[in-house]
Amino acid sequence: MDKNIFGDTDLDAGVVDRKIFVDEEIYQRELETVFTRAWLFVGHQSQIPNPGDFFTSRMGEESVILVRDKKDEIHVFLNSCRHRGMKVCRYDSGNTSLFTCPYHAWTYSTDGKVRGIPQYKDLYEGVLDREKWGLIEVAQLVNYKGAVFATWDKDAPDFETYMGDALMHLDMALDCRDGRPGGSEVIGVHRWVLPTNWKYTAENFLGDSYHNPSHRSVDLIGIGPSGRAGVKGRRDGELETATHVWINFPQGHGVHSAVQPSFGNYTPPASDDPEIGEYFRECHRLRQERLGEESRLLPFTGNFFPNTGYHGGQPRGLVVWHPHGVDKTEGWRFFLVDADAPKSVKDYLRKFYMRYSGPAGMTEQDDMENWLYASKSCKGVIARRNPFNYQLSKDASQQNPTVNGIQIRGRVTTQMTEHMARGYYRRWQDYVNDADWDTLLGKHDPRHNVVQAAE
Ligand code: FES
Ligand SMILES: [Fe+2]
Repeated sequence: MDKNIFGDTDLDAGVVDRKIFVDEEIYQRELETVFTRAWLFVGHQSQIPNPGDFFTSRMGEESVILVRDKKDEIHVFLNSCRHRGMKVCRYDSGNTSLFTCPYHAWTYSTDGKVRGIPQYKDLYEGVLDREKWGLIEVAQLVNYKGAVFATWDKDAPDFETYMGDALMHLDMALDCRDGRPGGSEVIGVHRWVLPTNWKYTAENFLGDSYHNPSHRSVDLIGIGPSGRAGVKGRRDGELETATHVWINFPQGHGVHSAVQPSFGNYTPPASDDPEIGEYFRECHRLRQERLGEESRLLPFTGNFFPNTGYHGGQPRGLVVWHPHGVDKTEGWRFFLVDADAPKSVKDYLRKFYMRYSGPAGMTEQDDMENWLYASKSCKGVIARRNPFNYQLSKDASQQNPTVNGIQIRGRVTTQMTEHMARGYYRRWQDYVNDADWDTLLGKHDPRHNVVQAAE
């Protein structure tokens, strides 16, 4: 392919061409090379607890159905009839024994097999092999601690290999607050379309802490669980005393986490209800008991390549940035709570999540304005002649350092950086170039193979 497709992008120099956010050819390449190969988050098992339950989701631009079949097995199918492509499911979620296409009424069972074709005996007998015309299913699927990820690529490495050392940061989003593995449920999903390229949003979640000034007004109000105004007014108080770490992983994932220097004092979320404070205090005590020193590692935010972001602390959940055209993105935020938390705690968190995130959330509104105007700028004739600067904390990262007594795996800085973004776009270029899986996993990236290698 055209070598110059990335324009002036030079990640060694820390420069990214604006065209990668607005170029239609690049966008089409992404749909073919990124979204057909990478592991993508589809939904959570708690959204389909019973046989026949389904939830319609997306992979790339395409609609898919996450469904639990009669035998309790989870599947992900392309939501497209094999006859002429009509959506076989037009509901967001529900329970069914069959998917009946509204167009000519072919029907499929919840395991994707063709169940019925109108006038089959008269019109198709001896020609159409029903076994071959079931719903199109993903090549691989994993139910990881309740989170369902899938890929269309049968040659993709297994999910844990794909995640590499970033997996433990996903754990911190999916595990219960008291340190038990898994055990979370989705309490609700926000979905909305915003006029920006999907990479703007994914990159922001990689750990762009540099954009804190955007949220100044929200910080001052102090909408976070801590109830306090100030720089950390949106978050748990725990992060205030911790050393922050920004990590880039060879597979293109990036996170911003933090390490407390000692166990210290814990301040539960400010709430008028003593039951809520007590619940969080007890979770924190049990987490320390279960995880020991490791419990000093605190989750914050990140993005798993290509488009699954998360907040591991508050507001806890996963977010997927689905491409919807080169300058349109559909954000889906899946909010998580411990499934066995008391109702009062779930209600408390639900209210916090709503005032924080999504199209009406106070913080997301700030972000959306930035994404929208910044993304639009990439279309300007003059603007496009001038690339973006990605040099923040260049050459400052270390491989697997020990921070506050805990080894942090990956390429790490303890100062704000854009090295997650630089690493992300390196892998993104490899995908767009249709590289082999070793390359996509970063195995040939010297930044991740040589201890203390310069960035
Ligand atoms: S498109 Fe589905 S039955 Fe024809
Ligand atoms: Fe933000």
